[in-house]
Amino acid sequence: MNNSFNNLKINLENTHPFITESDINSVKKETEKCYNELLNLSGKGNEFLGWLDLPSVITREEIKLIEDTAYYLRRKSDVIVVVGIGGSYLGARAVIEALQHSFKHLLKKGENSPQVLFAGQNMGEDYLADLLEVLEDKKFSVVVISKSGTTTEPAIAFRLLKNLLEKKYGNEVAANRIVAITDKQKGALKKLADKEGYKSFVIPDDVGGRFSVLSPVGLLPIACAGFDVKEILKGAEDMETALKGKEGFDSNPAMKYAAFRNLLYRKGKTTEILTSFTPSLYYIIEWWKQLYGESEGKEGKGIFPAGTIFSTDLHSMGQYIQDGVRNIFETNLWVEKTKKTLTIPEDESNLDELNYIAGKNINYVNEKAMLGTMQAHKDGGVPSLTITLTELNERNLGGLVYFFEFACAISGYMLGVNPFDQPGVEAYKKNMFKLLGK
Ligand code: PA5
Repeated sequence: MNNSFNNLKINLENTHPFITESDINSVKKETEKCYNELLNLSGKGNEFLGWLDLPSVITREEIKLIEDTAYYLRRKSDVIVVVGIGGSYLGARAVIEALQHSFKHLLKKGENSPQVLFAGQNMGEDYLADLLEVLEDKKFSVVVISKSGTTTEPAIAFRLLKNLLEKKYGNEVAANRIVAITDKQKGALKKLADKEGYKSFVIPDDVGGRFSVLSPVGLLPIACAGFDVKEILKGAEDMETALKGKEGFDSNPAMKYAAFRNLLYRKGKTTEILTSFTPSLYYIIEWWKQLYGESEGKEGKGIFPAGTIFSTDLHSMGQYIQDGVRNIFETNLWVEKTKKTLTIPEDESNLDELNYIAGKNINYVNEKAMLGTMQAHKDGGVPSLTITLTELNERNLGGLVYFFEFACAISGYMLGVNPFDQPGVEAYKKNMFKLLGK
């Protein structure tokens, strides 16, 4: 049961014996029905399905505008601050962190420029004060992203950053260092951008925040970090063509992922841990948590999306996963080929007793840890699916983003919810505004 697909493989072997052939047969029709609902635009939330076509409908002119804007900001900045929260933040950060050097901030200037930093994803006073402090003597620009244009966290961060830019450069030059990505006509950010004359990009009406990575929301920050957005879109488009073209359950890995997670949920596995043995995928996991949590957790239903990085978290969460409440399954995001190679050296004294693996690459050891972990977890009652990428590059990440979005929509339909709304997010805002006297 190993499906290979556009540099992405899904292996379902470790879901046995938790899921049987007859379980699979029982959901094939249902999954195909949800797939058809999605593609016929006849399911819940069908006014928000613009993301389905994003990779194939984006024009050359739009891509060029994104690339040119990124080039312009990169040339004049040591730091580009991307301001946004939730769907207006996580996708870009996920792709950038997956691709960039793990210690980029310590590289020499040049290799290091510009740094992309994030703000507006929290209201940490110290975080914001520290950020303003480091920006004081840096050349910087701001990309501010909010679909509604009224979200409190990014609005506060942006007001602070705008003030600093204006103090440093004067109002007119500051305005040339700000790019806004927002709704085409409504919201406070749109009004502000029009008044101040900021360069602006539009978030399409029919694309919700967490499904917007492949729009300017994700693409501009990714281009600002120096990565190839054409390649991301190419990978996403290949995945779009492939997934839309595979109508049968057996040949469509997104249908399989959606179906297997719903089958496991129906058997009491109510928590899914997305795990990876590649630490730079930390924010891909964070992005996935939002995508699935906000899309499915409603009406008293939904798989709880959790995340871990192994082997790090095997030394913290490993005990619980192996032995705690048996309501967990895992999806393991494995990357076959590393960007660099590093061999464990031979040591004459062998006091650390590592010579038995001398000469092996680190990833060889990491892979054995992964295989051993998945077997141990299965033996302990935790089934797992493994999604394998051949390597971490723009194309594969574009494909992965589209894959997870597509599977999420089918999975939400299987659960019987509208995957494209988020009514629950308003509750905290209502209370906060009341307490603030808004
Ligand atoms: O997925 C979503 O819709 C949310 O996570 C939003 O992206 C998030 O709340 C930010 O909203 P906005 O872009 O309107 O500031």
